[in-house]
Amino acid sequence: MDIIRVKDYNELSEKASQLVVGQVKTAIHSVLGLATGSTPEGLYQQLIEQYKQGNVSFKPLTTFNLDEYVGLSDDDPNSYRYYMNDKLFNHIDLPEQRAFLPNGDAADLENECRDYEAMIRDAGHIDLQILGLGLNGHIGFNEPGTPFDRRTHIVDLDESTREANARFFPSMDDVPRKAITMGIGTIMDSKKIVLLVSGEKKADAVSKLVNGEVTETFPASILQKHENVTIVADEGALSKV
Ligand code: F6R
Repeated sequence: MDIIRVKDYNELSEKASQLVVGQVKTAIHSVLGLATGSTPEGLYQQLIEQYKQGNVSFKPLTTFNLDEYVGLSDDDPNSYRYYMNDKLFNHIDLPEQRAFLPNGDAADLENECRDYEAMIRDAGHIDLQILGLGLNGHIGFNEPGTPFDRRTHIVDLDESTREANARFFPSMDDVPRKAITMGIGTIMDSKKIVLLVSGEKKADAVSKLVNGEVTETFPASILQKHENVTIVADEGALSKV
């Protein structure tokens, strides 16, 4: 694993956008894997900036997001589709029909998981996957205990994950209990992975990811086995490595 140490969140976002823009410029038909949450917000702002300045076009790209809550419609402000539209897609030239997220509102969720997995496979797998890191080591919504070979599937969210995400919802009761997520097997098929992590509260998680044993009780530890992972982390996040 390569670790790029940056000073703070701004620098992290800039570095991440350089990596993404570099990928898009060298392979214009790239398939990008995208994440939601707080960490990539700065990256998305930077990408919008780069696009507005005419430095990059996203037209030939295809994107697949990691995950989506079950039971929220696209126009629910807490759905990840809404987040992506709001924070990135509405501001760049990526065609809507090639910006994929799992449909957490599908009538047949098992079928939706199979279709999503097949679409990623048919696109030739992900060229560059952006990941954040959960405090409990989750990547996507693959919670501790998820088998490393899982493909896209439905998950019951950990209470700790629901609590961490409760800040976006009116009350704890409104936080969904289920989500669809790419599996760890799906993520590991990505050709490159860029994991972004910021702040001291993630320091224990980063230390386990980098130096801990590879175990399904800490899902991100599997990244030690991937041959092209770059961690972009600020000083707070790296304070225990
Ligand atoms: C989001 C996702 C999650 C987050 C993780 C970190 O699509 O898959 O794994 O990356 O929960 O979230 P933040 O960045 O909010 O700390």
